[in-house]
Amino acid sequence: MKNKTISIPLREITEENPYKMVFVCLGNICRSPTGEGIMQHLVNEQGLQNYFEIDSAGTSAWHSGQPANSKSSQVASSHGVALLSRARQVVSADLEYFDLVIAMDKINKSDLESIQPYHAKNNIVLMRDFDSNPEDGNVPDPYYGGLAGFENVFQIVKRSCENLLNQLKPQIKK
Ligand code: 4NP
Repeated sequence: MKNKTISIPLREITEENPYKMVFVCLGNICRSPTGEGIMQHLVNEQGLQNYFEIDSAGTSAWHSGQPANSKSSQVASSHGVALLSRARQVVSADLEYFDLVIAMDKINKSDLESIQPYHAKNNIVLMRDFDSNPEDGNVPDPYYGGLAGFENVFQIVKRSCENLLNQLKPQIKK
């Protein structure tokens, strides 16, 4: 299937002005650390680490300071991806600082829109906007389930991140 191209804020990406992305979910211990870890892995693998700044955050402060969930880390590590984040709560300044804010589900997206500064850029998207098989648009919350749910999250986020990075790469000026 051909991947659709969704409209995102595009600009020239240079080492002096790297493209800044933040992945956001509810707790910042499962889905968004997976997004951060996979995107950083893809960028490193392609030697593009100087062109991107990648972070993650949660709409809640429930797990602030904690590392990624052990099942998220286990699944990611089985695919060679390290999850190095420490949970923090998203703040409205993040919506101005980052070029692109990637929400893991529709509730995360509406929570982000509710803290968006009045003059903010139109830069909040859904992770599954970049998925060739977006289903209901949500990356399902794996927190209360078993390992299979975490593997499903990994696969969804991996293919979505690959498509997103492919959309950004033509903007890089070396
Ligand atoms: P995340 O998953 O939003 O993908 O990090 C969750 C983590 C914690 C909780 C819910 C979802 N919680 O209820 O504490």
